Amino acid sequence: MPNETLTITDNRTGKSYEMPISYGTIHATDLRKIKVSDDDFGMMTYDPAFMNTASCKSTVTYIDGDKGILRYRGYPIEQLAEKSTYVEVTYLLLFGELPTKTQLEEWEKKITMHTYIHENLKKLMEGFRYDAHPMGMFISTVAALSTFYPEANNIADPVVRQKQILRLIGKVPTIAAFSYRHNKGMPYVYPNNDHSFIKNFLNMMYSIGTHRYEVPPIFEKALNILFILHADHEQNCSTSAMRSVGSSHVDPFSATAAAAAALYGPLHGGANEAVLRMLDHIGDIKHVPAFIEKVKNGEGKLMGFGHRVYKNYDPRAKVIKKLADDVFKETGVDPKLEIALELERIALSDEYFIKRKLYPNVDFYSGLIYKAMGFPMEFFPVLFAIPRTSGWITHWQEMVLDEEQKIARPRQIYLGYDTRDYVGIEKRK
Ligand code: CMC
Repeated sequence: MPNETLTITDNRTGKSYEMPISYGTIHATDLRKIKVSDDDFGMMTYDPAFMNTASCKSTVTYIDGDKGILRYRGYPIEQLAEKSTYVEVTYLLLFGELPTKTQLEEWEKKITMHTYIHENLKKLMEGFRYDAHPMGMFISTVAALSTFYPEANNIADPVVRQKQILRLIGKVPTIAAFSYRHNKGMPYVYPNNDHSFIKNFLNMMYSIGTHRYEVPPIFEKALNILFILHADHEQNCSTSAMRSVGSSHVDPFSATAAAAAALYGPLHGGANEAVLRMLDHIGDIKHVPAFIEKVKNGEGKLMGFGHRVYKNYDPRAKVIKKLADDVFKETGVDPKLEIALELERIALSDEYFIKRKLYPNVDFYSGLIYKAMGFPMEFFPVLFAIPRTSGWITHWQEMVLDEEQKIARPRQIYLGYDTRDYVGIEKRK
């Protein structure tokens, strides 16, 4: 058994330092022993965008980016997508094990009992402009939940924590559906406790008047799978935001709003909307080669391609591509699919993309399915945020219970001015 230590020699001083290796990492603060003088602060690492820094220990989600592997609590994403339901996956993420039949029934019932939102929160949503982006409405309304449940501040109490977890999972579909109805100028539809989680959401989105909205079974199946695939993805930008903001011990609603804001960006959860805009912009299959050339010349990105962790086909994209076929059988093929397939074909055989290991990610095909199901483009990031809420809240709880965690506070390399004297305004040039 080799020594599980790392020896570093500082060539500035000739001194050597031995540091323990644990789980293939060294503790960054051990580097602080490396100093050139007694008053030296000590060595730090410089890692913009956390390219090579583990910020926590986690037992939730495993990714092997080179092999294209994704597992929740050890279960391969492909098996969960095929055999599980989104609600069961929320239980798995939060409690670490698949539920028994009774546990699942109880869990489902508890979530259902938390789907209604306060009437004043509904009024707050009514105050948005008619064309407000639904993700902006989602972020603000989730943040406003903290004003309705001030006890949520008590994050150390497991009973209080559990209550907010149920509220978040149960209420985000309602907030999402209300934001959609607001954009459409349609009356909000209240949750129906007789429906399953997915059916209830689709009913709040699409039912009108007394007409009973029949959820097409393939839509329910597709959304279930898409929600499972989007539920968690370890320390991505929004989950890191959730942990980072939550590390100040703010209530989980405020932290979730911050995570949702991080998700909104086009490089993260906003990418599914950006993919559809890109396909619109390309317009025709014959424009694909010219578009690819532009991307290669640095004029924009191929949205829905590339990933910080996956250097192989995103396993979620594989499942989604197959799912798209099933949905299109019901809805008819979207003409944009042809453009997407051609983009994928060219990109996967082009040296530029091969060299950089750029493959389709989860967002490349999800937007096409959402569009076929009747969701408007602006709504796509919201459809990402609903299931990712369960991942965020799982990581939040793990962070709260982790004794090694403290308030997140990175260091910087200061490159600004040294001290200088204030100059009165009349003397400034
Ligand atoms: N199109 C064209 N070139 C790309 C792309 C792309 N989509 N992504 C990366 N590159 C190039 C990039 O320009 C760089 O080239 P070079 O080495 O010549 O400078 C190289 O590939 C490495 O890229 P990077 O920007 O260093 O990679 P990153 O890990 O910082 O970024 C990413 C990851 C997902 C932000 C990026 O691939 C991207 O912007 N993709 C498009 C947006 C997208 O689809 N996002 C959804 C991600 S999956 C869902 C989620 O988890 O949110």
